[in-house]
Amino acid sequence: TIKACLFDLDGVIVDTAKYHFLAWKRLADELGINFTEDDNEKLKGVSRVRSLEIILELGGKTLSEEDFNSFMTKKNDWYLEYVDQMKEDEILPGVLDFLKALKAEGVKVALGSASKNAMRILNLLNITDYFDAIIDGTSVSAAKPDPEVFLKGAEATGTTPAECVVFEDAEAGVEAAINGGMRVVGIGEEEALGKANIVVPGFANFSVEDLKKALA
Ligand code: G6P
Ligand code: MG
Repeated sequence: TIKACLFDLDGVIVDTAKYHFLAWKRLADELGINFTEDDNEKLKGVSRVRSLEIILELGGKTLSEEDFNSFMTKKNDWYLEYVDQMKEDEILPGVLDFLKALKAEGVKVALGSASKNAMRILNLLNITDYFDAIIDGTSVSAAKPDPEVFLKGAEATGTTPAECVVFEDAEAGVEAAINGGMRVVGIGEEEALGKANIVVPGFANFSVEDLKKALA
């Protein structure tokens, strides 16, 4: 049985990767580091701190702690400039219907995201009320693939890991779910997410009924 569905945010509910890219790109330009969309793939599901470390590694640069922190703040300010323009129509296709169907069936819904901006984004998209629990970058200490974020989601929804299904677009997120003893639906391409129980391109042609059948 499925008692709770735990959703990653970035890349699952909304495509914020493009805004993360624009902000990191602007920062990398300022640092004189070449940063491409391919490089951006490495930052999916990765924390803000680790993301900047990866970019610095790409450019073979180091920063003082003070500069590191001020560049992180700068990136986030730029990121939020883009994010604050977002409207409900940026919710990825099929997501809203999927959330509504889960509610109708009494399945609990939780967010499991590494982002410290998660609440702000859910509010902008007007979907905060669909979530029974919100676990985000402000409430976890260990990054995916550590299962902490999803285990807290299970706890907050009063369910066991075996009763949960996780939706993830990042490899580290799929691993986090598996490490937590949960079933997982990969959102994206089979190639990167092969460890998931099933992989679908998105929610556009995927219903709660399809989910049940696939996991039966
Ligand atoms: C998600 C995204 C990452 C992002 C991280 C932290 O996991 O996939 O690209 O770096 O959240 O987000 P934040 O909004 O706190 O910078
Ligand atoms: Mg993601």
